Amino acid sequence: MSKKTVLVSGGAGFIGSHVSVELLQAGYDVVVADNFSNCDRTCFEGVKKITGREDLPLEIVDFCDEAAVKALFAKYPIDAVIHFAAYKAVGESVAKPLMYYRNNLQSFLSVLEAAQEKGNVNVLFSSSATVYGEPDAVPVTEDTPRKPATSPYGNTKTMCEDILRDTVKASGGKLKGILLRYFNPIGAHPSALIGELPRGVPNNLVPFITQTAIGKRECLSIFGNDYPTPDGTCQRDYIDIVDLAKAHVYAVTRMVEGKMKEECEVFNVGTGRPVSVMELVNAFEKVNGVKLNWKFAPRRPGDVTAIWADPTKANNEMGWHATRTIEETLKAAWAWECHLAGK
Ligand code: UFG
Repeated sequence: MSKKTVLVSGGAGFIGSHVSVELLQAGYDVVVADNFSNCDRTCFEGVKKITGREDLPLEIVDFCDEAAVKALFAKYPIDAVIHFAAYKAVGESVAKPLMYYRNNLQSFLSVLEAAQEKGNVNVLFSSSATVYGEPDAVPVTEDTPRKPATSPYGNTKTMCEDILRDTVKASGGKLKGILLRYFNPIGAHPSALIGELPRGVPNNLVPFITQTAIGKRECLSIFGNDYPTPDGTCQRDYIDIVDLAKAHVYAVTRMVEGKMKEECEVFNVGTGRPVSVMELVNAFEKVNGVKLNWKFAPRRPGDVTAIWADPTKANNEMGWHATRTIEETLKAAWAWECHLAGK
C-alpha cells in the first residue's frame, strides 16, 4: 500500500503534536498545519526530534481562511484530515461567544469545503465528552443522548458533529467521517519532549497540579468537596495523551482502509475508569514523591459531577484500548513539567 497522507490542523498543539508522532511512527506521511495562535514551536520541534523527521512539513495557516485551506488540499495528496484547530477554553467562550463561534465553526467549514471539493477525503473531528453534558447515567456510551451544551465552546463541538454528519451524508460517498469524543486527555509523551503548554493560568486540573508542584502556582484549589461522589470531589475519565493519540491512528486506518460500518461513525475515547480529583491529587503526590499545596474551594460553575466513558465500542470495533495506568500518566506529566523547568 502506498503511503497515505494525513493533514493535521492544529498539529503543533498539545493533542495535535502527540497525534503527529503516532501517525509518523505508524508509517503515515503527515502535514502539520497551525497558525500558532495558542502554542509556540516547542512541540513541533519535539515531534521532529522524537521521530527523527527533520523534513516534517509545516504549514502556517489560519483555518478560517478558506482559500488558504483549499491551497493546502491542492498542494498535498491528502487522504485524511484530522481537525484540531479550535479554541478550547470553556470560560473564555462564555465571555466571548462570537469569537468561539466564528473561529471554531469557520475553521471546520473551511476544512469540509476543501475536502468536499477534492473528494475522497476522510475527516476526523476532535469532539468532546462535553456533548453529553451532565449525563443521567454513567458510564456513557455513544448512544447516550447528547445534552444541550452549557458553554459556547461545548456548543461548537455539538454543532461541528452535526455539520460533519450532514456533510458526509450529502456527499454521496465522497467523504467519510469519524467523531472522536475525548474524555480528559492528560500527561505527556514519555520522551518529555512534547506535552501541554498552557498560556497563562491553566484551566485544567493536571497542568495546574504540575505548575503548583514546580512552584509556578501557590496552591491548587480543588473545586467542590460536597458532590454526591464517594469522596465528594468530581469524577472524570483521565485518558493518557499517548493512548488518545493512538486512537487517532486506529481511526484514520479504519477510514483509509475502508473498514467503516457507517459513513460517519462516533467513538468514545476514554479508559472506562472514573478517578476523582482527590484521587488524582493523591496519586500524583505518591507516584512522584512530591508534596502538593492544595485546598478545598467552592464548586466551579458549569462542572458536571461525574462522567466517564464506556469505551467498549472503540475497543471492539477499532481494536483500540487505553493501556497506560494513571500513575504512568502522572509520572509523564511531571517529567514534562520538570523538562520545561530545565530540571
Ligand atoms: N479542577 C479543580 N481545580 C482546578 C482545575 C480543575 O479542582 O484548578 C477540577 C474540576 O472542577 C473538575 C476536574 O478538576 O472536576 C477536571 O477539570 P478540567 O478543567 O481539567 O476538565 P473538565 O472535565 O472540566 O473539562 C475537560 C476539557 C473540556 C471538555 C470537558 C469534557 O477541558 O475541554 O473535559 O468533559 F469539554
